[in-house]
Amino acid sequence: MQIGGSKNDSVAIMAAALLVPGKTVLRNVPRIRDVYTLIEIFRRLGAPTSFRFDGALEIDATNLSTSETPHDLVRQMRASFNVLGALLTRFGHASVAMPGGCDIGARPVNFHIKGLEQLGCRLHLEHGVYSGEVRRFKGANISLEFPSAGATQHLMIAACRAKGRTVITNCAAEPEIVDLAAFLNACGAKVEGAGSMRIVIDGVEELSPTEFAVIPDRLQAGTFALAAAITGGDILIRNAILEHLHPVFSKMEEAGIEVTQAECGCRVRRVGRILPVDIKTMPHPGFPTDMQQPFASLLCLADGVSTITETVYESRFRYTTELARMGADIRIEDRTAIIRGTDRLTGAPVKCTDLRGGAAVVVAGLAAEGETEIDGLEHLDRGYEGIVEHLQGLGAHVRRTGTRDKDQMSA
Ligand code: EPU
Repeated sequence: MQIGGSKNDSVAIMAAALLVPGKTVLRNVPRIRDVYTLIEIFRRLGAPTSFRFDGALEIDATNLSTSETPHDLVRQMRASFNVLGALLTRFGHASVAMPGGCDIGARPVNFHIKGLEQLGCRLHLEHGVYSGEVRRFKGANISLEFPSAGATQHLMIAACRAKGRTVITNCAAEPEIVDLAAFLNACGAKVEGAGSMRIVIDGVEELSPTEFAVIPDRLQAGTFALAAAITGGDILIRNAILEHLHPVFSKMEEAGIEVTQAECGCRVRRVGRILPVDIKTMPHPGFPTDMQQPFASLLCLADGVSTITETVYESRFRYTTELARMGADIRIEDRTAIIRGTDRLTGAPVKCTDLRGGAAVVVAGLAAEGETEIDGLEHLDRGYEGIVEHLQGLGAHVRRTGTRDKDQMSA
């Protein structure tokens, strides 16, 4: 199978494209809800954006008409907040609502705000909307309290055309950060150190449009790898980048799953029992918080007791109540899920509590005896392009049923 482009990379690069007057062309952008929401936001800002016939996304940010974002749309996703830095650069003033995104605990934007202020912007919050003014961003030394992916991306974007040098330390090091830096540099920016805990950005006077391909979605690849593992399957993920998946694959190997580099991607295979493992989520290069949910589904069928400790978000275990409906034995103690492996899961009506919680019930449903009916697919649609078709292609019995109002999947 072939996985699509990364959601979290695409939305960050799209926000960065607003910095660049002219037509940016992005290849491999997935056709998912968050991308369509951003496309609509861009159109309302006066940047015509659409998928071309050849599948590439074209963003024409030549003549933006306003720096006031449509608040109802911004509130539907998290990464929309990153347009603030780009709009402030283009207009000197902008307003953006507090963003939305999955309900997985408090998701403040204080690191973004503090960083933008250090770059010389004045910001205030009123009625849930941040408004800011800056003549031109000025380079600064910014040390993040936590290596936040979003704040790192936002500040990289804002610093690109700042006057002077910006140094961001304790920053995020995810593959999506490295790719954002590659995109910005392709537009003429000077960004160094992405992928390490210290990024240096020398502001430039102008940026010019480019054509760029976003990286494959490591979280999608991980989800399908876990789907193969839980069903005792054997799949080849053609375009997965092994090094992006290292923390997930090394835990899968510990759980008895075979992961090998294939000539064009990776092969995932399970032959024996699933062994219990202990997982602690951490910023990259640690185990990704977005993968603990489908991994928990696998561990529900392990030969013993596993633990998952969530350190990135305060409340990312809501999906475990759904897995419990399918017969999983999971107890939550503070930030740790204690999973006692059982012999089988049984199909049940369940819901997607959020995007990755949705991935967990899909993965569990593939291995459960009988039919699993999954509600709340709008969460899955935010991040997985054509998940039903992909799973069908791998031999799973999955179909999408229901109406737009009550969309369901049966696995
Ligand atoms: N945080 C703050 N203040 C801030 C920013 C973050 O306290 O100003 C905290 C968050 O509350 C969280 C931690 O820092 O506890 C990490 O948040 P981060 O900023 O890294 O997350 P994000 O940028 O909002 C992105 C992904 C998430 C993924 C996280 C962590 C996008 C659009 N979202 O979110 O993806 O979980 O990084 O890797 O890139 C998903 O794909 O399902 C998803 C939720």
